[in-house]
Formats: sequence, C-alpha cells, structure tokens
Amino acid sequence: MSNEKLAIDGGKAVRSAGWPSRGLIGEEEKAAAMAMFDKAIKTGNAFGYGGEAEQQYEKDFAEFMGGGFADGVNSGTNAVFCALGALHLEPFSEVIIPAITDPGGAMPTVLVGCVPVVADTDEKSYNVGAAQIEAAITERTKAVVVAHIGGEPVDMDAVMALARKHNLYVVEDCAQAHGAKYKGKYVGSFGDIAAYSTMFGKHHCTGGQGGVVYTRNEELFWQAKRFADRGKPFNLDTASNVRAAINCNLNDLSATIGSAQLKKLVSIVARRRKVGETVKAELARKGSVVQVGVQEPETECSYWFLRLALDVAGLKVDKAAFCEALTAEGIPAGLSYRHIPAEAVWFKERVGLGNKGYPWTCSDYKGPREPQYRIDNAIKVTDKHFNIGIHEGCGEQEIADILAAIDKVEKAYRK
Ligand SMILES: Cc1ncc(COP(=O)(O)O)c(C=O)c1O
Repeated sequence: MSNEKLAIDGGKAVRSAGWPSRGLIGEEEKAAAMAMFDKAIKTGNAFGYGGEAEQQYEKDFAEFMGGGFADGVNSGTNAVFCALGALHLEPFSEVIIPAITDPGGAMPTVLVGCVPVVADTDEKSYNVGAAQIEAAITERTKAVVVAHIGGEPVDMDAVMALARKHNLYVVEDCAQAHGAKYKGKYVGSFGDIAAYSTMFGKHHCTGGQGGVVYTRNEELFWQAKRFADRGKPFNLDTASNVRAAINCNLNDLSATIGSAQLKKLVSIVARRRKVGETVKAELARKGSVVQVGVQEPETECSYWFLRLALDVAGLKVDKAAFCEALTAEGIPAGLSYRHIPAEAVWFKERVGLGNKGYPWTCSDYKGPREPQYRIDNAIKVTDKHFNIGIHEGCGEQEIADILAAIDKVEKAYRK
C-alpha cells in the first residue's frame, strides 16, 4: 500500500513491540561468576587479577584469533593506550589516528607523549583509507592507528603495504569489530598489535568494562603486559619495575565472564551478519533511496551497527526527518556515527596535559603548532549515512520490519 499514514503523523507504526534486547548475558556467565564466588567463600581468599581465570580468558582469546598473545586490560581505551605503550615511541613522535573514531581510540596517543595527526576517511565508509593515511605521513610519523568502525574491516593490505614502506607500526583498533574478517582472517591479526574494547555494548564482553591487547609478536606482548601493570618486569630477569606506567589490569571475575562470552562470539557475529546482509541485499535488489553503501571487497563485517546511505536528492525531507520517521515506525535509526575527534574541544583547544597546548606546542615537537586535520570526507560520509541499531537479538521479524519501515517512509517522502 503506498502513502500509508506515517507513525510520526499519527498513523499505525510498522512495529509496536519494542526493539528486542540483546540477551548478551546468560546462565553461562552467571554460573562462571558464581563459581568464582563459591571458591572465594570456601577458601576465604578473594578473587584477584592475573590468576587462573584471567590467564584462561587470555588463552581463549588467542585461540579464538588462531594464535598469538592476549593481555586482558580494563577498557578499550586502555587497550589502545597499552598497545601504543608497547611500542615505546619517543615522545613527540606523530601517530596517525582515524578521522572517525571513539575518543578512547584517539586520546591515548597524547597520553603516551605522542602527537595525534588525523587521517581522513576513504570517502565511502567511516573507515580511514590508505591514501588518506599516506597524505598524513611526515618524517616524524612512527605509528598508525586504524579503527574498523561499525565492524567494517579497513583495507588492511593497503595499510600494511604503506606501513612497511614507511617503517611504521600499525595498531588495529578492533573495539567495534570482534569477529570481523578481512580476506578470510580476523581483523586484529594484520597490524603489529591490536586493541579490543570488551565493555558491555560490544560483541562480546567481560562485564561492564574491559579490553584486550592482542598481538602475534611475543616481544610486543611482553611490552604491552609490562605497560599495563606499572612496568612490572614480566619475562625479564629484573627485580624491579622497568618503566613508568599505570595499572590497566583486567581481573579474574571479569575474565571468567569473558571466557563464557567468547564461546558465543561466533554465533553472535553470525546472527548480526545475517540481519545486516539480508537487509542490504534486499535494499540493493529493490532499489531505494536508502543505499547499502560501499563495503571493502573480501571482507565480512561484524555489524556493530548497520551503516546505510541516504540519497536525499530523491526525497522531500532531509536525513534527520527521514530517521525520525523511521524511529517512529519502531526502528532504531541513528542519525550518524559522528565521532570525529578533531571536532572535539580537547583536540581543537589542545587540552592534553597542562594548559599550554601539550604536546603540539612543546619545543621538542618540530611539527605544526596547530593540530593538523583533514576531515572533509569524514564529514561527507557522516552527513550521507545513518545507522540502524541491529544486533544478535534481531531476527526475521526485525529484518522484515526494517524493510517495511524503510519502504513506508520512502513512499511517503519521495519527491
Ligand atoms: C573504536 C573504539 N576505540 C576505542 C573505544 C574505547 O573503548 P572503551 O569504551 O571500552 O574504553 C571504543 C569504544 O566504543 C571504540 O569504539
């Protein structure tokens, strides 16, 4: 039926039931946590950190990745911090960061004494592109942080080729991309070191907060582990702490939840992917003002959210009105993923440490005094796209409702 009255105008919504919950935590996590409590009560010893449960989670994580080394930490922000800390970069080295990322993926650069330099996105997605990274490289660049935003893999072959050519470390920020694949391999296994957030909103969690540093390089692993725990001399014949660092440790209770969660990760990603891929395939088949956007070839997105592009030229309304109408139909449509660190006060006003513009204004830094940033593409892609909050709790009904709501709103608003 065309031009049905929209819910936003008082019509009947496509979906009256609320959006499903994720159901992320189940009996398995509860049993694992209860077993920790039972043991603590029986033995009289509180659970701690770095014990059996945390070691098991780190082993499980590395196994999930098909090898390598994992260190549990207490947030995704600290996972990025410790991944950078493991690299022992000289202060005032430049670290390229993506134009679109969570603040937690950008701020650690400053806190390890480096200068963040923004590389723009690749024009077609929220992800940074190799050409944009190349444009940001100077003789001071020592590392690049790439983030697989929304679960969509960055073109890692192009990034790694560039990094090898310029002798740069690559940190993969996989906070939003657990279980996403690039050319058949999990993201996180391409760069020198990777960071994961395991807070409760991510594909798998370690409870409320948490994170993991992952690498296939054993030396970088030990360096990350020392940096994550006040410079303790792990794997060294030294009696004292070997570098200044803070305490970013995970803990055994969180880790045991993480191990239970990891067993579900493949299924979680598969269910998200089914929703995302089905909606995209159907929109492409039908032809719509809602376009599926471009996805890197040979990648498997893990859909932290579903990114869609809107062709407003064919509509009587703007993107905000379109998303509002979709939301009124019962579909959680977010206006965009506009997390652009260069637009934030801390970056624009250079508030790192102290009040004098550290690190950009320090005399030891030989780069531009003002933060450098290219975010034209980032603004364009965030303007063009909107997101639907799909997750593993969604199924056939949600797929049908998303498509029906898009169809209804599109028919009402088409020029
Ligand atoms: C890309 C990215 N990096 C880092 C982080 C920081 O993770 P956390 O919130 O666990 O500190 C996030 C959080 O969403 C993220 O999306």
